[in-house]
Amino acid sequence: MIDWKTIKDLHANKKLEEVIGKWFGVDIFYTDKHGNIHSDILDKEYEFRSHFFKVQSHLPYGKEFLTQDIEKGLELLNGQDGSSFYFESFFPNVRMISAKIESEGEFLGAVFCYPYVSDQITSAELDEIKSKLIECGSSEEDATASCDNLKKLKTHEYDYLKELIGLVAHEVSTVYEEVNKREARIMDLNAELGNKYRYHNIIGKSKKMQEIYHLLTKVSNSEATIMIQGENGTGKEMVAKAIHFNSPRKDAVFMAVNCSAFNDNLLDSELFGHVKGAFTGAVKDKKGFFEVANGGTLFLDEIGDMSLSMQVKLLRVLQENTFLPVGATQPKKVNVRVLAATNKDLKGMIAKGEFREDLYYRINVINVHIPALRERTEDIPLLMDTFLEKKCAEMGHPLKQWGKKTLEAFLDHKWPGNVRELQNEVERLVVLAGDEKTITPDLLSSRITEANESTTAPTGNLKGINTRGTLRAALEELEAYMIKEGLKRCNYNKSRLSKELGVSRASLIMKVDKYGLDKRKKAANE
Ligand SMILES: Nc1ncnc2c1ncn2[C@@H]1O[C@H](COP(=O)(O)OP(=O)(O)OP(=O)(O)O)[C@@H](O)[C@H]1O
Ligand SMILES: [Mg+2]
Repeated sequence: MIDWKTIKDLHANKKLEEVIGKWFGVDIFYTDKHGNIHSDILDKEYEFRSHFFKVQSHLPYGKEFLTQDIEKGLELLNGQDGSSFYFESFFPNVRMISAKIESEGEFLGAVFCYPYVSDQITSAELDEIKSKLIECGSSEEDATASCDNLKKLKTHEYDYLKELIGLVAHEVSTVYEEVNKREARIMDLNAELGNKYRYHNIIGKSKKMQEIYHLLTKVSNSEATIMIQGENGTGKEMVAKAIHFNSPRKDAVFMAVNCSAFNDNLLDSELFGHVKGAFTGAVKDKKGFFEVANGGTLFLDEIGDMSLSMQVKLLRVLQENTFLPVGATQPKKVNVRVLAATNKDLKGMIAKGEFREDLYYRINVINVHIPALRERTEDIPLLMDTFLEKKCAEMGHPLKQWGKKTLEAFLDHKWPGNVRELQNEVERLVVLAGDEKTITPDLLSSRITEANESTTAPTGNLKGINTRGTLRAALEELEAYMIKEGLKRCNYNKSRLSKELGVSRASLIMKVDKYGLDKRKKAANE
């Protein structure tokens, strides 16, 4: 099944739709192979690029005419050789284009583009379209305006448009295949979950970590490029190493490059090397990381910090296995497995044009998302014990033990710095405890005791509200909480609640909107 929402949100397609819409005055939509529409054109607020299409969709039987046309387009795609066609719609001389979405020979759906006319159209023919519109219920004014508005395309123009629509369909097919591959892998891995406590040097026994281990077992052996995502200190680099040391490349080099540590020019020369004389200071040839890591694994850390021009070069190595050292004329060939990591929101960056979507899909063949420590608190005691043992051994102390209150404080803390922060705290405590056998809570660092104090302060029924982070965030959270509870109490009577809270009704409504609390009302009523 195609995930149509992903398809609709595909940045490349959206951009293309926008450009095509602007140039050709047409709208683009998707249907599955049964002809069901999976685009916003059915939404009431949808803004049509074509006036004609808009007028048609408001006709009493506008939707039926469209359905009929879709069927016609699907039949063409199904029955004949070729993957895109233009054909006449329900309205004489008004044309539509359809292009096939398919994967491995399976017909999945179609991309449609509508409407345009040939530039050979005569004014008599245009009048015919107009009368047909009026006959179907349009006002004369709308019919005239929409016919005037129809784009008249020359042959080479609509041929080109057909090609573009074919491209959109192709992009949809590719993404469908990528998503499918990923899902098959995930299903595979959910099939059998074990109870491992560690994988390579990674420690954790929570269900979420078990899932990661299984994924890692599956992917280590493959040659796939892998994207590792997670907050600071969640173990992204550890995961990259675990993949390498469990792969057939384990005896070759593992190299980690922090992309954010270099400026563009330096990164270029660091990754791809340079030849003597390429720039001032290049006194001899220098091998880049790609060449040094040949046969092994290259870990590109903080890939979200890579500039767009470097992204292009990276894409080329990934696709063709060749690269050009700075100043060189001959490309070099390499065989490197690339792993990448980031804690940035790459999808958001794509939307802003800061990260290339093609590179994203190329790297993101498999995505390993490491959960933050607060999402797997059951791992905390295990991590504490492991780091405790390690540090005691390192310092030559007999094994110490945790005081009950210390353990509680660890469990209550939200660990913004994740495992790294937890490890630092354990090591610090071992040092501070000196010869004491038990680690008592008075030794805890203030950031842990203070944060815990504020969350355990007498907040009554506000338990569970996050009082850390920015003030604004905390205030908003509190406000949302008060409104949510108030709504329940007042049985969703906003006038009453606004009086209770001492705010105007309008401002309350705005806030309810802002925090999405109306939805809860709906859910509660259902
Ligand atoms: N699951 C884990 N088990 C054991 N140690 C861990 C784990 N996760 C993190 N650590 C410890 O925390 C440190 C940080 O891990 P790592 O450098 O892999 O995180 P990262 O996600 O790359 O962090 P950053 O975003 O800061 O680059 C590691 O050196 C390791 O000591
Ligand atoms: Mg890191």
